[in-house]
Order: sequence, then structure tokens, then C-alpha cells
Amino acid sequence: MSAEAVEAPVRPDQQVDEPPPIEVAGLVSAFGDRTIHENLDLTVKAGEVLGVVGGSGAGKSVLLNTIIGLKQPDGGTIKVFGVDINRSSQDEMATIDRRWGVLFQNGALFSNLTVRENVAAPFFEHTDMARADIYELADLKIALTGLPPHAGDLKPAELSGGMRKRAALARALALDPDLLFLDEPTSGLDPISAGAFDELIRDLSESLGLTVFMITHDLYSLYAICDRVAVIADKKVVASGTIPELKKTTHPWIQEYFNGPRGRAAAQSEEKPEDGASEHKAVAKAEALSQDTTEKDLAKAPAKAPAKDRPQGAA
Ligand SMILES: Nc1ncnc2c1ncn2[C@@H]1O[C@H](COP(=O)(O)OP(=O)(O)OP(=O)(O)O)[C@@H](O)[C@H]1O
Ligand SMILES: [Mg+2]
Repeated sequence: MSAEAVEAPVRPDQQVDEPPPIEVAGLVSAFGDRTIHENLDLTVKAGEVLGVVGGSGAGKSVLLNTIIGLKQPDGGTIKVFGVDINRSSQDEMATIDRRWGVLFQNGALFSNLTVRENVAAPFFEHTDMARADIYELADLKIALTGLPPHAGDLKPAELSGGMRKRAALARALALDPDLLFLDEPTSGLDPISAGAFDELIRDLSESLGLTVFMITHDLYSLYAICDRVAVIADKKVVASGTIPELKKTTHPWIQEYFNGPRGRAAAQSEEKPEDGASEHKAVAKAEALSQDTTEKDLAKAPAKAPAKDRPQGAA
């Protein structure tokens, strides 16, 4: 299925004829004799937020790791901003490496460093800026992701799960990337934090003109912030497009995913009139309230929110 439905915004400073941020063609990946990807094709367009979904173990994280060069492909080509990352010079790779930021599935913060030092790490690695300037910029990035100023002094173990995600996001955004990779950014977050994180990603992608490759199990995130969704199943991208386009496909996993009970609940929350994002938040809020409040408190929750249907983090 083609994926032309949504026109991604173009950054003012972006060359219109620049190659797509990501072009994967005929990718083959394997661990030993276990094939993970077979002839996988995927293009990510400039300025879009692409959701990447698929069952657990389908190969989403391996795809991300392969695109950023942490795993060598066993076949096919991967181009990032037109550069074949497995056949590029060191200089080309250094340039590309600065153009992307990654939020790994496990956060991957250095546990012995403070948040400020974690966010500063890419500056020390890629620039020769003065230490004081680097820490000033790190504090700006920390603020950008909505963390309180004191968070910069804390170690990862002293943060809540939601704060850790934001700290990892601050580090991913350190060098002002054009391309942001997110692996399960809302997993493990309560519904309100997940909704807030979704909004943060959407705001950042719009204000900074970022292209976002976001792996997620969270149907609410897909509805709230993704322009298109790519589905990984059967070792390849079996379909990509807008959610209405995907719902029309006959692939059994896609049908179950979008038209099963959770998929329908997520869709309902977005189909209400007015502001979809507010509705998303209202649904999340109602569910959080339902967890530990009295009946009286519950009566104040948004009347039309199907509270119990909001998945908790990774669905
Ligand atoms: N380093 C590795 N060595 C061997 N096998 C691996 C390695 N990393 C991943 N795999 C295998 O590759 C397959 C795909 O893993 P991957 O982590 O990409 O799944 P995923 O789609 O991200 O799943 P989840 O939604 O649970 O995160 C799994 O079967 C996994 O066991
Ligand atoms: Mg994964």
C-alpha cells in the first residue's frame, strides 16, 4: 500500500530535493541462521512522524539498530539522508551521526552520570565547545523536555520512569538532530504522562521540523501524533500508510491490531469532535482517576471518556 496520504511539512532551511531521511531497500537481517528481516523496504519522508508497529519480537528494535549502524545488515541497502551508511566514508558518517538522535527502548542513560552530564555527553563527543557552554546548552535541552531545573543534578536512578524518558529525550535532542528515533517512548508511563509525552513529541516535531521514527505499541500515541504508520510482520513492512488506509488492508495482524477492542477504543477517543489531543488527555485522566479515587471523584471525570480502555504504556 502506498503511503502518500499526508503531506509532511518541509523545514524552511531544508533542501526540497534532499533525499528522504531514511530509505531502506531489500533489507535482510539475521542472527546466525535466524532471519529477522527479509526483503524489508521502508521510506521515511522529511518532516513526518512515522509510527512503527508490529508484534513483540517482530524486529522493530533490530530495524532501528540496523538503520543507525549498530548492526550490520546481511543484505540490502540503508540510506540516511541519501548516504549509504554501510558504504560511507568516516567523514560522511560523522556528519550523518550528528543529524540523528536516538531514544533507546531502555533509555540507555549512563547510570553513574547526572542528567546534565548525560545530556552533555554528545557535545563532548562531537564538539570542541567549552565545558561551561556545554552545560548551559545541556540545561536548555533539559528544560525543553519539560524537566524541572533540579533534574539536571540527579542520577538516572533518582528519576521517575517518565522523567527518565524525558532525560533520554533531552540527550537525543542535544545536537539539534533532523531525525529522531524513539523506541517505545511511552512504555511504562501512566496514561497522563504518556499523553503528555505524546504532546511533547508532536510539539517538538512541529516546532523543530523533526522527522520522527517512532516504534510504539501505544495505539493512543499512533492516533495522537503519527502522520503514517508502518507495520512490521512476516519479516517485512507489510503495509504503510495513514491509519484509515491501514484499516482497509486485509492483513490479519493489522485487522486485529486496529479493529480489536483496544484499537477500537483508541479510535473512539480520537473520533470525538473538537480537539483530539484534549480528548486523548481526558481519556488518560479519567483512567488515572479511576485507579485510586472515590466514586465522588470519579463523577467529576470527563463523562464520555472510556476510562478503562486506555492501555497502560506498552499495550
Ligand atoms: N543481539 C541479538 N542476538 C540474537 N538475537 C537477537 C538480538 N537482538 C534481537 N534478537 C532477536 O531478534 C528478534 C527481534 O527482536 P527485536 O528486539 O527487534 O523485537 P521488537 O520487535 O523490538 O520487540 P519488542 O516489541 O518486544 O521490543 C527477536 O526474536 C530477538 O530475540
Ligand atoms: Mg523492541
